[in-house]
Amino acid sequence: MKLSRNAFVLCLGVSLLAGFGSVRNASAEYVIKFSHVVSPQTPKGKAATAFADMVNERLAGKVKVIVFPNSQLYNDNKVMEAMRLSDSKTSGIMAAPSLSKFVKFSRTMQAFDLPFLFNDIKDVHKLADSDLVARMTQPMERKGIKALSFWDNGMKVFSIKGDKPLTQVPGDFKGNKFRIQSSDVHSAMIKALGGTPQKLSFKEVYTSLAQGVVDGQENAWSNVYSKKFYEVQDYITVSNHSYLGYLVVVSKTFWANLPEDIRSELTAIMKEATMANRKFAAEADSGDRAKIEQAGKAKIVELSEADRAQWIAATKKVEDQFRRQIGAGLLKAIHELLGH
Ligand code: LMR
Repeated sequence: MKLSRNAFVLCLGVSLLAGFGSVRNASAEYVIKFSHVVSPQTPKGKAATAFADMVNERLAGKVKVIVFPNSQLYNDNKVMEAMRLSDSKTSGIMAAPSLSKFVKFSRTMQAFDLPFLFNDIKDVHKLADSDLVARMTQPMERKGIKALSFWDNGMKVFSIKGDKPLTQVPGDFKGNKFRIQSSDVHSAMIKALGGTPQKLSFKEVYTSLAQGVVDGQENAWSNVYSKKFYEVQDYITVSNHSYLGYLVVVSKTFWANLPEDIRSELTAIMKEATMANRKFAAEADSGDRAKIEQAGKAKIVELSEADRAQWIAATKKVEDQFRRQIGAGLLKAIHELLGH
């Protein structure tokens, strides 16, 4: 059967409406739309699915969680605006934007972006599991955002298209443009390393690398793998220079209006999803690196201790630049907690 163009557009419209209708009329008293920007196969994607599966089973008929991966519903900046503006008491927006994207709601969050603050993921967990994080997330509540949990991706690596890997600073960074998230700390870090930063949304990264709009980028292994950045880059340097993690957040109006028993069950399920996320992140860290290695496209290069020391020295000033914004007292407490 051949459809006329108008009939086709009409059919498409009807099926789209039917799709949205099923979201709105999902057979539960409360609906949570969990929007994120990455692939369902990443530590965040898997944890969001695990959270949804647990809620949909244990709170069946009461709460329905629908996950929208790959920026299908919102990008990270739009989702926060939607969340803040949402005043529905029965339909809530949940998201897990990277920590870098929270600066406009709490400047203290910039601590998580500092280069070489964390030696490894264990250091990150010391902070994420401490009382200090409440000081960082509380200001968001006044802005309509309720923080629920910290989720991992992993330590970040750098990649570049060119004839040599990034090892010497500033030399190897000079003349190269790097995609960064919307973080002023990242911007200062790239400049300190000798490169030129360019803020771009996650959705734009692959095309920008492929078309040479930028020469390189920094990200965790699972994003480099699942979004195929390694296919359009020549070298990956295992720099572990800073952390990529997330804050799971939800519209405050929605959360505050939930019945107490439902809220506490959701809180318990979120704790389980957080533990699962840490496991997924640890697996992705080695697993996705191995898959990139096997693909044989980008060459993986370790950063020697001597070169790492140069990177640390070059970026030391970034912490000084952001000490006032983050809070000197908070930064001191973080260093004490980490023991370095
Ligand atoms: C990025 O923009 O690189 C990351 O925030 C994407 C993500 O959510 O992991």
